[in-house]
Amino acid sequence: GFVNTKEMFANAMKEGYAVPAYNFNNMEQLQAIVTACVESGSPVIVQVSSGARKYANATMLRWMARGAVEMMKDIGKPVPIALHLDHGDSFELCKDCIDSGFSSVMIDGSHLPYEENIALTKKVVEYAHANDVTVEAELGVLAGIEDEVSAEHHTYTDPAQVEDFVKRTGCDSLAISIGTSHGAYKFKVKPGESVPPLRFDILEEVSNRLPGFPIVLHGASSVDQKAVATINQYGGKLDNAVGIPEDQLRKAAKSAVCKINVDSDGRLVMTAAVRKVFVTKPEEFDPRKYLGPARTDLIAMYKEKNQSVLGSANRV
Ligand code: G3H
Ligand code: 13P
Ligand code: NA
Ligand code: ZN
Repeated sequence: GFVNTKEMFANAMKEGYAVPAYNFNNMEQLQAIVTACVESGSPVIVQVSSGARKYANATMLRWMARGAVEMMKDIGKPVPIALHLDHGDSFELCKDCIDSGFSSVMIDGSHLPYEENIALTKKVVEYAHANDVTVEAELGVLAGIEDEVSAEHHTYTDPAQVEDFVKRTGCDSLAISIGTSHGAYKFKVKPGESVPPLRFDILEEVSNRLPGFPIVLHGASSVDQKAVATINQYGGKLDNAVGIPEDQLRKAAKSAVCKINVDSDGRLVMTAAVRKVFVTKPEEFDPRKYLGPARTDLIAMYKEKNQSVLGSANRV
């Protein structure tokens, strides 16, 4: 079955790596995530957003994730897997996920006034902990779109708030804002220009104030320029798509950051592969002929990320 994130994060903290948290909406993505993590011996968090629930049906996603647990036994040595709600926006949504078998939830009250964020998070924590489910909370706001909420600028996490917040809410991990953002357009820069570094000073101050406490990075896709180029080569139009440089993620993974969220990188790899088949093999119309190559490329991308960026490979 699913495990909560407690042991996963304790191990990541002790050994200096980050557990991958990969989003999924469909079968090929989930197969790729599970295959890559089994083949690289990495613990994994598979996460579902409310948008994913709307797209694929909550019941379907939950059973797919249970299917993924069973599938691991068929393909190799099973790895620890958590089923996590990404960006939960209400107590009711978190409760629904907890009641239906999720092992971890995020309650994202980051856009709320501080005291309201605390009250909402605390309420979720009480219900979750009674059910052995771990809770991720968030302080600070990422620029860009977070589900239905969008912000023009980063509101960096204020390190002065983190001890009070964690103590009063009892949350198990904390997502912080240090310059990452969601999607494929993370910085407004021209191609080839370097991007501003993440605020490692804030991360360091947060972890000094919360020794041994697991930190989470959202919006951490690196937006591989090869995938972007392939998309554009085969009829796409992604202008100035740019992500977080891998060396910054490597550095983050070695720190108190124990969970790194990646969704956009999978979307890009999948789109590149599908576009390529459509253009180079226009006679194909069997979805397996374009989703299959997309799945193959996804597996390679996730394995590479586990091995050479997050450091989560060969940990189980
Ligand atoms: O937080 C953003 C994740 O990438 C989920 O995206 O809300 O479009 O499913 P989504
Ligand atoms: P990316 O858009 O950078 O992949 O971030 C995903 C994420 O944070 C999901 O919660
Ligand atoms: Na880490
Ligand atoms: Zn996110």
